[in-house]
Amino acid sequence: MSQLFARKTIGQLTAEVDTATGGLRRVLGKWHLTALGVGGIIGAGIFATTGTAIAGEAGVRLGAGPAIVLSFVLTAVTCGFAALCYAEFAAMVPISGSAYTYAYASFGELVAWIIGWDLIIEYAVGNIAVAISWAGYFRELMADVGIHIPAWLTTDYRTAFQAVAAAGAGATDARTLDLASAVTSAPHIAGLPIILNIPAVLIVLAITVLLVYGIRESAFSNSIMVVLKVAILLFFIVVGATLIHPPNYTEFGGFAPNGFAGIKAAAAIIFFSYIGFDAVSTAAEEAKDPGRDMPFGIIMSLVVCTVIFILVAVVMTGMTDWRQLGTAEPILTALNLASGNPTLLAVSRIIVAFGAVLAMTTVLLVFQLGQPRIFFSMARDGLLPPWAARVHPRFRTPHVTTILTGVLVAIFAAFANIDEVVNLTNIGTLFAFVLVAAGVLILRAKDPDRARPFRAPWVPLIPLLSIVSCLFLMVQLPFVTWVRFGVWLAIGLVVYFAYGYRHSKLRAAKA
Ligand code: ALA
Repeated sequence: MSQLFARKTIGQLTAEVDTATGGLRRVLGKWHLTALGVGGIIGAGIFATTGTAIAGEAGVRLGAGPAIVLSFVLTAVTCGFAALCYAEFAAMVPISGSAYTYAYASFGELVAWIIGWDLIIEYAVGNIAVAISWAGYFRELMADVGIHIPAWLTTDYRTAFQAVAAAGAGATDARTLDLASAVTSAPHIAGLPIILNIPAVLIVLAITVLLVYGIRESAFSNSIMVVLKVAILLFFIVVGATLIHPPNYTEFGGFAPNGFAGIKAAAAIIFFSYIGFDAVSTAAEEAKDPGRDMPFGIIMSLVVCTVIFILVAVVMTGMTDWRQLGTAEPILTALNLASGNPTLLAVSRIIVAFGAVLAMTTVLLVFQLGQPRIFFSMARDGLLPPWAARVHPRFRTPHVTTILTGVLVAIFAAFANIDEVVNLTNIGTLFAFVLVAAGVLILRAKDPDRARPFRAPWVPLIPLLSIVSCLFLMVQLPFVTWVRFGVWLAIGLVVYFAYGYRHSKLRAAKA
């Protein structure tokens, strides 16, 4: 039993990096790291999931209405607590495994494995959702410039068959009919329509190639895209502000039409939009001065994105009746409904759709960068096979795990349904946040004298608040999400006892 909870000391963890990796490149400064954070945060969450969070879904969940802004505040506070805890760890244990590594130091091997396995849900499964949303906006963008990609090449079975059912029940809107057309227009094999999300597959594979090629190139492309996507959101905020019609905030059932029930249900969904500041910590081995720059990158990226999200939320719900916003592209919907000027509308649509495509490209990049580095750390510890820890001799990137992640994400992105993967990503990430906060408490008690370049303030209060607020958001998620999450963790335990338990380097050294 005690072996299962064998802990790594922080000295052990940091010494291994210097000897074992032979080197990821230490090239990232504090603004690169902030850009990585913003790159990972602004994406499918704000551009897509905000729609159903505002409008709700009949029979499934309540919408927040204009009070979505309070959902954004609630979630920002939750993430703020978590960010302070991540910052303390990332500065103290600057290792690419992120929460996995922190758990190894604070709880021991079994919990470390569980969290490493859980992070697959955050990074790889999260990326499946983002790739699907990317493909949706890409299709809109192409349509705006006159290129129509057939629906069967950009959607999934569940969405297509739901559209067929809706059309059968009398729905006549263009979007539903278009999606339903996927089933009839797709090529059929043995009577079955072949529906695939090809743009989602292609973008994931393209990003994989870039990431194998180099961290510097990846960070550089990320920084340029981040500046552009922030500029485009600011453009939307300015244009949208001129289209605000104040009665929209109160006229349709009041500011908070479903009260706190709507606000908290929405908060659990839009949590997805904030995920990514923690991904900064997976680049810790590539940071020039992690002790100083990790906390800066994590906290600064969260602050920047919180301000942007709140402004977007206020503008979007001021532009139109909130009940109309429940689409997969709510920002475009708001523009369509509010703008009376066709030229302004056409130009803004193209700019915003382009911004969304760019935004989600950077999220894919950052998450696709994070996942292999976590696998890499786990393999270095012997919990995954040694080939997973290989660094490319010329590019100095963990190429094996980068390619493996890319291929798996691409395959699932071809078939998966976005709503299912978003909820799963949220529960997995919140669980990681809970363990990181608990880890801060444990290590403050067990290893009080360790040099902490950054200390989370008001310990134990902040980590405790982090745990409570994350659990609060977790219980808002549907039961089926909990079941899926439980099944995933159970599979992880089987894998651990079949492989990691027997190959763990730490336990071999202690035996
Ligand atoms: N925060 C990331 C997004 O919204 C996951 O796409």
